[in-house]
Amino acid sequence: MKRLLIATGGGDCPGLNAVIRAIVKRASHEKEWEVLGSIQGFNGILWEPQEIIRLDEKTVAGIHYRGGTILETTNRGGPFHWPYRQSDGTWTTADRSDEMIRRLSYMGVDAVVNIGGDGSQRYSQQLFEKGLNIVGVPKTIDNDLSCTDVTFGFQTAVEVVTEAIDKLVTTAQSHNRVFIIEVMGRDAGWIALHASIAGGAEICLIPEIPYDVQAVKEAIERRFVFDRGFCIIVIAEGAMPQGGDVVGTSGEEVGRQQIRLHGAAARLSAELKQAGCTHDVRETILGHLQRGGIPIAYDRVLASQYGIKAFELVKEEKFGQMVAYHHPNVVSVPIAEAIATPNLVTMDSNVLETARGLGICFGD
Ligand code: F6P
Repeated sequence: MKRLLIATGGGDCPGLNAVIRAIVKRASHEKEWEVLGSIQGFNGILWEPQEIIRLDEKTVAGIHYRGGTILETTNRGGPFHWPYRQSDGTWTTADRSDEMIRRLSYMGVDAVVNIGGDGSQRYSQQLFEKGLNIVGVPKTIDNDLSCTDVTFGFQTAVEVVTEAIDKLVTTAQSHNRVFIIEVMGRDAGWIALHASIAGGAEICLIPEIPYDVQAVKEAIERRFVFDRGFCIIVIAEGAMPQGGDVVGTSGEEVGRQQIRLHGAAARLSAELKQAGCTHDVRETILGHLQRGGIPIAYDRVLASQYGIKAFELVKEEKFGQMVAYHHPNVVSVPIAEAIATPNLVTMDSNVLETARGLGICFGD
């Protein structure tokens, strides 16, 4: 019997369960494969006692539309930065990656499928370089992984933001207000950009284009005649003013590597007031609503395609590869290439060109 282990790492994302289901269903056609799942990323392998579950067709029945991940996940710690408390009470981290690979070998695991975003795929690459048979599946609402047209979960997040804009437009119009909607995406402006087009926003502020508050204020004024009018601004959590930096907090969660981004909308609101904007401004932070809940049909299909392809790669022993979507095909690319540079909005992107063509202001 051959053993395949699945792990889901990083922030959760709509479509994770559809990937797990597809892998298990596909593996069930091959009588010699048994599929296991590690709870909370790789933690389940490293915990004492271990938390590993058997995944069969019964376990995954009907989970394709469920949000989150039945395997749970974490974006803290991990095999290379395992947090532990020292005798003086302070926290530090240890590299337990070699031990994890040894444990997998004792468990008789022949291959691992790691479903995760850029951080998780970095781990996949490091583990591959240490000899682990691993395949990556690109997950993230941020769509910031390279070498694939799209990551699953992204379109669902865009849908959530678009629906929110549709709702906020009616209240903005009724009250003659400016609404600032803060959306996720980390250093990438994809969610903000796509939702601004789909939702008909007037202003879109993304990390790739630092904004000038004066330009934003002028774009707002163009939407008002005296005090009548309204304006929708979509701001990515990683957006920043020209000469400024991102807003967020770091060091508040043990084992967390990244800064937690939040506050871009509130900062912009204060900046506008300071710049002399007299309109009523309200802020809405969509936060984890963008990540929770059911995946839209597009993401269910994409996630299922990724799951089936991931199993094929395992079968063909094409390790160190990540599944990817190159329209209209699902292909494989080296994980090393996918993580080499992040997929950010480039100035020649057609989506950006479309937004500019529609008159959306980027604050530049
Ligand atoms: O990477 C996905 C993401 O949702 C980002 O868009 C966001 O910055 C981050 O995760 C939020 O992380 P957490 O769930 O730990 O607050």
